[in-house]
Amino acid sequence: MQNFQNKVVVITGAGSGIGRELARQFAQAGAKLVLNDWNQDALTATWDELPEASRGYMKAFDVGDRKAVEDFATTTHTSLGRVDVVINNAGITQQITPAIYSTIEDYEKIIQVNLWGVIYGSLAFMPHLREHDGGCLVNISSVFGLMGCPGQAPYCASKFAVRGFTETLRVEMRGTGLQVVCVHPGGIKTNIARNAMVNNENGHERFVTRFDKMAKTTAPQAATTIINGIKRGKNRVTIGPDASFIDRITRLMPESYERILHRGLDRAKFLTKR
Ligand SMILES: NC(=O)c1ccc[n+]([C@@H]2O[C@H](COP(=O)([O-])OP(=O)(O)OC[C@H]3O[C@@H](n4cnc5c(N)ncnc54)[C@H](O)[C@@H]3O)[C@@H](O)[C@H]2O)c1
Repeated sequence: MQNFQNKVVVITGAGSGIGRELARQFAQAGAKLVLNDWNQDALTATWDELPEASRGYMKAFDVGDRKAVEDFATTTHTSLGRVDVVINNAGITQQITPAIYSTIEDYEKIIQVNLWGVIYGSLAFMPHLREHDGGCLVNISSVFGLMGCPGQAPYCASKFAVRGFTETLRVEMRGTGLQVVCVHPGGIKTNIARNAMVNNENGHERFVTRFDKMAKTTAPQAATTIINGIKRGKNRVTIGPDASFIDRITRLMPESYERILHRGLDRAKFLTKR
């Protein structure tokens, strides 16, 4: 898809970070935006920034709520008449917690939002995207959908699953006119660490500080990379030099990439219960 003028673009998690930047850049490109976030104030703040002509529809709800996602798809189609691009972007993580100390509730919550949110959004919107040629479905995975990361087991489980689901859709949809894109961002300077699920305040502060140092790519750069990927007809997009490196190293050394990617990890200290 080369031109977004008057195209209907749906973005979940548009109240912050990558989702908000996508909304801004698609609005500049002349698209009609349909936005969601579960934080009403954050969603309204994004909405209020957009030029009147680019405001299609907005609704605050949790993407892990299947009925709410299905209603969102139906209302979008009924009120705007078509759907051209859907970006399942909403996502959450937790502060660094070893897999064995993450609770079942942590796993369930993160998988409900990050995986079920993407599955609900894809299945609810695909019939509308497929009503015409040239539709595009974009699901946001992560570099943590390419490699295991200490302290992020629920998030990695959800993002590897998003990749598996999205790559399967891509294979099934080849030649049908629907572009299916799986996105693997590296560290992007957003509020993801600040918004993380917290089980210990000190640990959360350390996580935010470490994340802010590590994340090198800005949200506007991330949004531009995704939009360029759509324009170029790509079905797999990595964002940032860290993501390109992780993509290569996990393919070259699938059995032992931790020797390079996590070589400084003090396992005895890491596995101490906090
Ligand atoms: N920032 C990074 O380094 C990074 C790296 C890889 C992947 N990602 C992914 O990019 C996507 C966007 O994250 P971000 O970095 O912009 O984070 P962010 O926290 O800045 O923005 C995420 C937005 O999604 C919303 N949201 C969260 N759960 C929701 C739910 N259940 N229903 C509706 N809205 C919900 C939040 O309120 C927030 O406004 C996520 O899927 C995230 O996993 C981010």
